This record gives sequence, C-alpha cells and structure tokens, in this order.
Amino acid sequence: MKLSLNRRYSFPASHRLFRSEWTQEQNTQTFGKCANAHGHGHNYTIEVAVRGPVNPETGMIANLAELDQFVQEKVLRDFDHVYLNEQIPEFRDCVPTTENLCRVIFCRLSGFPHARVVSVRIEETTKNSFEYRVDEHE
Ligand code: NI
Repeated sequence: MKLSLNRRYSFPASHRLFRSEWTQEQNTQTFGKCANAHGHGHNYTIEVAVRGPVNPETGMIANLAELDQFVQEKVLRDFDHVYLNEQIPEFRDCVPTTENLCRVIFCRLSGFPHARVVSVRIEETTKNSFEYRVDEHE
C-alpha cells in the first residue's frame, strides 16, 4: 500500500512575464500587465506531494524534518525574496510563469532520497493554482 504526504511551503518572489526578443507591444498583448517593465510580486504557496510505502518501524512515508530540510536547500534558499527572471538560472531563457515554476521546482526536488516526489502544486494567487504531476504509470 502506498500513501501520499503533502506539505506546504511559501515564499515571496517577483517576476516579469516577457520575452526579450519580442517587442513590448507583443509582450503586452500576450502577458498583459504581467509584462510591465519593473515586474510584480507574489506570495507563492507550494505544495509538495511525496508518495511511497509506509515504513513499518516509523509509521511514516518520510520524515517531515528531512523533507523540510531538502526543500529548504533545493528551493527556498534560492527562491525566497528574489527576482525570478534574473536570480534563478533556470529562468534566464525561460518565461517565469507559474507553469514553468512548477516544472523547475519539481526538477529540483526530484532527487529527494527518502520518498518519490510525485507532484508540485503552486498557488500564485487565491484565484489560480498550477500543478506538475508525474504520470501514474511511471
Ligand atoms: Ni505574476
């Protein structure tokens, strides 16, 4: 039997949605106000799900302290209070939409040694959220 463990984290960061090879007009047409020159911020909430068998001795899928430490090292340390476009290498050539943020954070967390990271869900605002999930059959 397998269970999932979901844990939430949050960090504030800023971003600007634009492509440098496009004109400002094209960017505004595609990204609206999110293309404005000086960027804007969000309080991102991320929910990480790990899945695996329950260890019969501990009764746990993974130790929360180990997960917290891993997320801190791989994500929060770099992403907290930064301008995503310039301070996160993965976004040098990639628009920092929340879709892409899900993908980048999932990749960074995929090496968690104690259980399998199966999804990363991010709330950008109270109105929208995005989720990157591995296929069930993988
Ligand atoms: Ni935004």
